[in-house]
Amino acid sequence: MKILVTGGAGFIGSNFIRHILATGKDYSVVNYDKLTYAGNLENLASVADNPAYLFVKGDICDAGHVEAAMRDCSAIVHFAAESHVDRSIYAPRSCVETNVTGTLVLLETARKLGVARFVHISSDEVYGDMFPEMFAGEDSPLRPSSPYSASKAGADLLVQAYVRTYGFPAVITRSSNNYGPFQFPEKFLPLMISRALDDKPLPIYGAGEEQRHWLHVEDHCRGLLLVLERGQIGEVYNLGGTDIERNIAVARKLLRILGKPESLISFVQDRPGHDRRYALRRDKIEKDLGWKPRIPLEDGLWQTINWYQDNAEWLSKVRGGEYQSYYERYYGNRDSSLLEIARSKPQPS
Ligand code: NAD
Ligand code: TYD
Repeated sequence: MKILVTGGAGFIGSNFIRHILATGKDYSVVNYDKLTYAGNLENLASVADNPAYLFVKGDICDAGHVEAAMRDCSAIVHFAAESHVDRSIYAPRSCVETNVTGTLVLLETARKLGVARFVHISSDEVYGDMFPEMFAGEDSPLRPSSPYSASKAGADLLVQAYVRTYGFPAVITRSSNNYGPFQFPEKFLPLMISRALDDKPLPIYGAGEEQRHWLHVEDHCRGLLLVLERGQIGEVYNLGGTDIERNIAVARKLLRILGKPESLISFVQDRPGHDRRYALRRDKIEKDLGWKPRIPLEDGLWQTINWYQDNAEWLSKVRGGEYQSYYERYYGNRDSSLLEIARSKPQPS
């Protein structure tokens, strides 16, 4: 089966491509990726020469190019997105263009070409934050808080509209926060690990009391393959993580593993609209497809920290160039507040 994977040069997409090619099953992959700051072909160096793998550079908003790349593919696994909440706060337009318009282009092209299966990768963030003890099920209302999560929710609704209106063969997955090898160090865990490795301050937003539900990317990819192979058309599946933890507790945990002092923790200006707690129910996918995450956070943290230590060259390359200016813009003058940055740039491209 030939599969078009969008956003395959990013964190989860590249883990998924390696995972699917390692199954030994009859899969071939076209990786369609624009190579934004978050896309990195070095993530796929181990499969670059695999005859079942092909990379095509392109933008999911470019309908003509998407159609050429999608031809002959019988399934789509759609990861491509602007995936970072903080960036979406100061650049909402590019986030909506890729996440909503790009998804629409893919849906329309796949419908036209008669693609047999479309797996749309979404996020727990579409449910908004959960009160203590509450968990989001697949039928919970969508209450997104950030431009990123609003754009993901918009894309989910488009997918559902295509299923209902056109009988389009799509499945939606919504997962918890992922972590693991090859994650770009703008996200919480790789940012904290890379800063701690350099003995630099760890910027914790607010008081660090927000909670995230953590899922190792290998568990996620295993679940996605099951959904691709056996998920019911028209259904939504939550892929909930193993541990729900406060950010400050995770930061302390990784400092302990690394043998670094807690004095590295630095509380900085909070994120505007910061979601307090994510928590997903995953009983549906457990029951229907027999999927459960297997890697507890403590084990996954050890493995991930080891990976970043062993891949110092990868880390130093991705932290050059654009990353430097991003980091300075966001954290260099954090006292001026992210909120002010967001207000002063209401509609950048
Ligand atoms: P990422 O930022 O690491 O990778 C995104 C990839 O998409 C990059 O390779 C980038 O070049 C590509 N891309 C961006 N815009 C594109 C465009 N217009 N056309 C083609 N390619 C484009 O993201 P990730 O963390 O791997 O997330 C992948 C997907 O999973 C996203 O849809 C995200 O919303 C979802 N998700 C992520 C998490 C998480 O914790 N990282 C959790 C739940 C859901
Ligand atoms: P992030 O990795 O951006 O994922 P998301 O916001 O999509 O869940 O952030 C995870 C949590 O970590 C979130 O509560 C915000 C917090 N955070 C910090 O405290 N400091 C940081 O520098 C970053 C990037 C995130």
